[in-house]
Amino acid sequence: MNAYTRHLITAALPYANGPVHIGHLAGVYIPADIYARYLRLRGKEVKFICGSDEHGVPITIKARQLGVTPQDVVDKYHFMIKDAFERFGISFDIYSRTSSKTQHNTAAGFFRKLYDAGKFIEKTTEQYYDEEAQQFLADRYITGVCPKCGNENAYGDQCEKCGATLSPTELINPRSTISGSQPVLRETSHWYLPLDQYESWLREWILEQHKEWKPNVYGQCKSWLDGGLQPRAVSRDLDWGVPVPVAGAEGKVLYVWFDAPIGYISNTIELLPNDWETWWKRRDTKMVHFIGKDNIVFHCIVFPAMLKAHGEFILPDNVPANEFLNLEGDKISTTRNWAVWLHEYLDEFPGKEDVLRYVLCANAPETKDNDFTWKDFQARNNSELVAILGNFVNRVLVLTQKHFDGKVPPLKGLTDYDEATLKELPIIKQALEENIENYHFRDALKEAMNLARLGNKYLADTEPWKLAKTDVDRTSTILHIALQICANCSIAFEPFIPFTAQKLRYLLGESQTSWEMLGRSNILPEAHPLHDAQLLFDKIDDDAVDAQINKLHVMKAAKGAGAKATCEPQKSVCTFDDFTKIDIRTATVLEAERVPHTDKLLKLKIDTGLDVRTIVSGIAEAYTPGQICGKQICIVANLEPRKIKGIESQGMILMAKEPNGRMRIVHPGEPLANGATVS
Ligand code: MF3
Ligand code: ZN
Repeated sequence: MNAYTRHLITAALPYANGPVHIGHLAGVYIPADIYARYLRLRGKEVKFICGSDEHGVPITIKARQLGVTPQDVVDKYHFMIKDAFERFGISFDIYSRTSSKTQHNTAAGFFRKLYDAGKFIEKTTEQYYDEEAQQFLADRYITGVCPKCGNENAYGDQCEKCGATLSPTELINPRSTISGSQPVLRETSHWYLPLDQYESWLREWILEQHKEWKPNVYGQCKSWLDGGLQPRAVSRDLDWGVPVPVAGAEGKVLYVWFDAPIGYISNTIELLPNDWETWWKRRDTKMVHFIGKDNIVFHCIVFPAMLKAHGEFILPDNVPANEFLNLEGDKISTTRNWAVWLHEYLDEFPGKEDVLRYVLCANAPETKDNDFTWKDFQARNNSELVAILGNFVNRVLVLTQKHFDGKVPPLKGLTDYDEATLKELPIIKQALEENIENYHFRDALKEAMNLARLGNKYLADTEPWKLAKTDVDRTSTILHIALQICANCSIAFEPFIPFTAQKLRYLLGESQTSWEMLGRSNILPEAHPLHDAQLLFDKIDDDAVDAQINKLHVMKAAKGAGAKATCEPQKSVCTFDDFTKIDIRTATVLEAERVPHTDKLLKLKIDTGLDVRTIVSGIAEAYTPGQICGKQICIVANLEPRKIKGIESQGMILMAKEPNGRMRIVHPGEPLANGATVS
């Protein structure tokens, strides 16, 4: 299996019509990133390719709804998605986009080559046309009465009530969801890839030659193939996309599922303008597509048939598709606003990228749909990352600091138990490798965690803290061994939680590590200096996860109530006298810092015009310290002081809370002197 000299890893191109959520991460981007990081660490030649999928009907619909152009829509989300992936440490070698010039040229060239070689068939059919919106309607944008069960809101491709597969002309009383008008049938012609002609080749290639593919992937392919393949249209009547490069094809673009996978090729061209063919045409390239289960047919059947028809390209070696991740027991849904968005997580849990990476890998939907819950997120952080990995590393570093001046102490003879412990290291390494190479990332992560468990058990059994005074030599040996286990952790965890692995390498003073060093018990030389201990992880308290659960329900309710989420009802009457007791004033934030071990609280130093005082405010989820430092705000100055997390808070900041739960500070409309009274 190691006849491959280079690895081309692709991750499904996300649609640029919304932000990325945890379902995407668990299903596609985290496993792909683990795989890419692992191979790089092994010194392999790797290119990890992704980008935004910027064409297709839903983007044009969204643009229409917002009254902007499709380009505006994709610009907004492309940069948002790219930035979030980067902050999350997804290590793409390139993240480009399908609206790029390179993609337009590459996709058009690909089509043209197949067209010229007579690989398409052309067919004229009647399709529904919306005369008001002046466009042909994709199946999903037609609704009507289901001919099978009478459901009034069946879609042109499927009835969600009885599950029947439909074609739009079967609907009774069809309606365009774009304008609401009754669509009419019009003739239109399109190019089709005759998949039926590739069926026997696909059967052989997948069902015979790729029996090792994951059962969920293999099974889906088999049922498609057993059902018989039909020609598939590769063009659409639409004005957004790559124009069909054929005379007389005005108003037609390449179908988004023909266009998008070619994005893998064009993004590689952008990355390696001179060398991309080595990566796409040489048989010693191992190509692996990471995708979610809804993409299986396109990556295992349609795209390979396209590549085969073209003739010059390699085929994927594997397509390790995942199942779906649910959230708090319910399907993730953008339209119902039931999701955890990556960019919001990154803002709300700064420095905790690895916690989400860890949880989503530990709980990845590899073989079946799985559920993400905030309580599980908290539990895995507190009882695995903090209690096992963080605690182990911290104990070793603190003890070494205390008893050996922060330098790796020497080995002074090994007991049988020491030897047995060290023997585990190469065994874990091998299990880790096998799991990653077979796309079993959850099990691989468990093996990495087993290193930390091994370390903790070793410390618990040998109790070096009790020996330090009586048996320096034994303590020295024990800490030497424990430090080697820490060093093993710094390598083993790198693919999964790279921010933490980097911090750990720093603490251990490691400059160069490689996968080959994993399993060894001499990674850190004797007398090698370490840095002072720092915690790798912090506990996450109930408040932080309760706030997230609450936010989910608030956001969902806001969506359910339409754009105008309902305001809180008015409070009962307050007399003018009551009101005048409250002393509201303008003030300026001089300093801001997080209150340690909390997720919501900031400690602020405020200039009130009267004095400089401390206020503790629950706004850390809405603002970072940097965002509010120097800002003018309004405070309740005469609120009775109270202690919050041991800090006396002398007043309160005025905040506005939107019906959807979003909180913003109320600022004076223009700069004012501090201490101005507000009434
Ligand atoms: N945009 C598609 C989705 O999110 C995935 C496209 S993958 C590619 O489901 F191969 F087409 F690029
Ligand atoms: Zn039905």
